[in-house]
Amino acid sequence: MKLLNKTLLSMAAVLISTYALAADKPGKSAISSAHYLATEAGFEVLDQGGNAFDAAVAVSAALAVVEPASSGIGGGAFWLLHRNEDQKNIMIDGREEAPSAAHRDMYLDAQGEVNRSLAMHGPLAAGIPGHVAGMVHIARNYGRLPLKVSLAPAIRLARTGFPADEKYIRLLKPVHKHMLRWPAGRAIFLHDDEIPALGAVIKQPDVARVLEQIVLTGTKDFYHGETARLLVKGVNEAGGNWSMEDLAAYKVVEREPVRFTYNDYELITASPPSSGGVAIAEILNILEPYKIAECPEAQRIHLVVEAMRRAYRDRSIYLGDPDFVDVPVAMLIDPQYAAGMRTSIRTDKATPSSALAGIADVAGGKHTTHFSIIDSQGNLVAATLTVNTLYGANFVAPGTGFLLNNQMDDFSAKPGIPNAYGLTGFEANAIAPGKRPLSSMSPTFVIGEDRVAVLGTPGGSRIITMVLLSILDFFAGNGPQSWVSLPRYHHQYLPDRIFAEPDAFSEEVQGQLRALGHEVQILNRQWGNMNAVMWDRRSGKLEAASDPRTPSGRATVK
Ligand code: GLY
Repeated sequence: MKLLNKTLLSMAAVLISTYALAADKPGKSAISSAHYLATEAGFEVLDQGGNAFDAAVAVSAALAVVEPASSGIGGGAFWLLHRNEDQKNIMIDGREEAPSAAHRDMYLDAQGEVNRSLAMHGPLAAGIPGHVAGMVHIARNYGRLPLKVSLAPAIRLARTGFPADEKYIRLLKPVHKHMLRWPAGRAIFLHDDEIPALGAVIKQPDVARVLEQIVLTGTKDFYHGETARLLVKGVNEAGGNWSMEDLAAYKVVEREPVRFTYNDYELITASPPSSGGVAIAEILNILEPYKIAECPEAQRIHLVVEAMRRAYRDRSIYLGDPDFVDVPVAMLIDPQYAAGMRTSIRTDKATPSSALAGIADVAGGKHTTHFSIIDSQGNLVAATLTVNTLYGANFVAPGTGFLLNNQMDDFSAKPGIPNAYGLTGFEANAIAPGKRPLSSMSPTFVIGEDRVAVLGTPGGSRIITMVLLSILDFFAGNGPQSWVSLPRYHHQYLPDRIFAEPDAFSEEVQGQLRALGHEVQILNRQWGNMNAVMWDRRSGKLEAASDPRTPSGRATVK
């Protein structure tokens, strides 16, 4: 008997170590991005011996070219990286930064009202871009291949062009009149001043040239050289306020991600200046004891909404650039803090937001973009990239070829006055020179012994609740196709209302939520564009999924 036990034990040890080895690397790779050409760019680089980080550079650069409504080298990003060989997790913060001439009242008119047009359109809306610095940093510190290889697909796409798809055209419509205001961008993204026809080829030769300079000089040309000079000249001649020193001073920041455990899985997600990870941690910590998977549907939604309400209230009070304000991350993600929050939640009644001390927040659209990668070696990348709202500031500095962001609008231009997303903030997110505006972007890993998830989405302030609902769906045992397809709902403290996609709630559930005291608004449109991948370590299987709401996305495993 003893011998048998010993034999079984040693067999088990062999099985365990085989499992551990098998589980260590998936052998294949998966990429899910919002554009098929970007996913193909990632695989082109993997096929040449690149790792997930090289692929991330290739996908980021390709998206900048083929999805100018959503991200670009005139914008910024957060890249969350997991390096399998040493289990390092790091967030690369390539968020835009306020120029040195920025000041807290820069968007207020003589009456003290926010001039929304200045904050949204044109060069004064733009922060100093971080996308290029981030890509170069990732390639040099985490990649295996030279930029010549990882930027090659994007250079080719910029030079030979890509076909305008339904999304390019649809997203151009709301900003067409603003794009007409500045000739350099008008000449590239419109055709004869009109919205290009489906399939019309969009070429960006200046972007190809700028990317080639990145291959040759790293960040020198963009932040110190000819491109920097063109940016400063173009921005300032059109009413902006940049200097060469602002560009030269821009630095990528490596930040520790927010990390916490939920249901014995480790969650690794975006840290400030994103509010996403902190809010997701707070919501999950509040929910953990409720066993929501076992609750009737309306009760489950009620509890999730009450947790969202409280986390978004804290977002508006505490979150900002951690290099400027003391963000109490440890307190906000502490389960004890969540326990305190939970005491004010009633299972039979909605808490009016007005009953919680604090301030405001809100919404999101189809700008910004997210991609997720797992490579054959088990390295992970979740990256969310943005120029803020549709086609950013709608402004191109002559000679540069790329749109600048309007990320300055993610600051709180005036305490208590909502920005483009209806988000309201206070001191923590006030404008200051060199400061990074608060973001909702939430690239996230969920890592367990059995399954690993990589996910994220665009969608302004709704990013956080979309990622949250998908994490809850992961814990319900579902995979990426379900996470990206789920009907979505959202609550952000103020306005005190549950927003829902058309098919999110049955009439009966809506009635039950209203009976609990919730205001429910069913919108006539969907939101988000999630791209996610999952590695099942038990079977070794990889799955990838792209949001069905946006057909141009592509999720591939090979
Ligand atoms: N500009 C959208 C975000 O960073 O949340």
